[in-house]
Amino acid sequence: MIAAYAPASVSNVACGFDVLGFALEAPGDVVSVAPADGPGVRSLIVRGDDGRLPTDPARNTAGAAVIALLERLETTRGVALTVHKGLPLASGVGSSAASAVAAVVAVNELFGRPASLEVLLECAMAGERAACGAAHPDNVAPALYGGFVLARAAAPPDIVRLPVPAHLACAVLHPHMEIETGAARALLGDAVPLGAAIKQWANLGGLVAGLFTADLGLIARSLVDHVVEPRRAALVPGFRAVQQAALGAGALGCSLSGSGPSIFALCDALPSAQRVGEAMRTVFAAESRALAADLWTCEVGREGARIITGLAASVPR
Ligand code: HSE
Repeated sequence: MIAAYAPASVSNVACGFDVLGFALEAPGDVVSVAPADGPGVRSLIVRGDDGRLPTDPARNTAGAAVIALLERLETTRGVALTVHKGLPLASGVGSSAASAVAAVVAVNELFGRPASLEVLLECAMAGERAACGAAHPDNVAPALYGGFVLARAAAPPDIVRLPVPAHLACAVLHPHMEIETGAARALLGDAVPLGAAIKQWANLGGLVAGLFTADLGLIARSLVDHVVEPRRAALVPGFRAVQQAALGAGALGCSLSGSGPSIFALCDALPSAQRVGEAMRTVFAAESRALAADLWTCEVGREGARIITGLAASVPR
């Protein structure tokens, strides 16, 4: 029996829609794998999802990712998978990506690591696509590699790992509601005004440069989304007030995490992330009319998916 952990991730990061993401340290998902008689994914159990996720391997993001990996490895070996969900569904922190990534990392370890990270990325994305209908590398890539990742292209993968300034930390507020990514993408249309596009790619360049030079001022100025956030902001009750609270409490920037409803704030260090997170939580409680929320604070997760000893009890939360 082998188990792998893959962390939650913040995708888009304000100005990098579909191409930029970073990993959290926790929470995350764990997938355990054991050899099984016969070829393919012989069984799949999901724990921690209240029975909501499919257990047909072809329709489950972890199962479909492993099917893709087994095909890629041209193996007739079989596996039994157990997915331990530490992440809430449709929460905007890469829940399906974490399951897919943990699954392929665990199976690759069981087989003696025949696949490269690039192959694991492709298989995790294939799993997401098979199970969810679409896949974006901006959650899978940071969940697999850790840190900040620019997915310059997905097929074939062209993944650029970016430096993470010392102590960079984040607060993530997770309102207890769900947003389907497909519905949030349907709001976006397919046209971007040139003026907004210019501001957006200027900010993406600024953010990448700020990460390379550890220039927190440049990072802060660049953490503005002129394209996607304006079209999604109304999906999350109190989003603008929470964003203002985060910036007022000293966050470098604050925006939707992925397609929401989670809201992230990047901060210069963990103590400020904790202060910013509390400000976000307080304002959200006042604005959201009794909707509960989780608050996670941590440094940016420099380590991505990894093999762990122990099972669900060891899921970092
Ligand atoms: N980049 C994606 C989006 C992330 O915002 O729609 C969700 O998979």
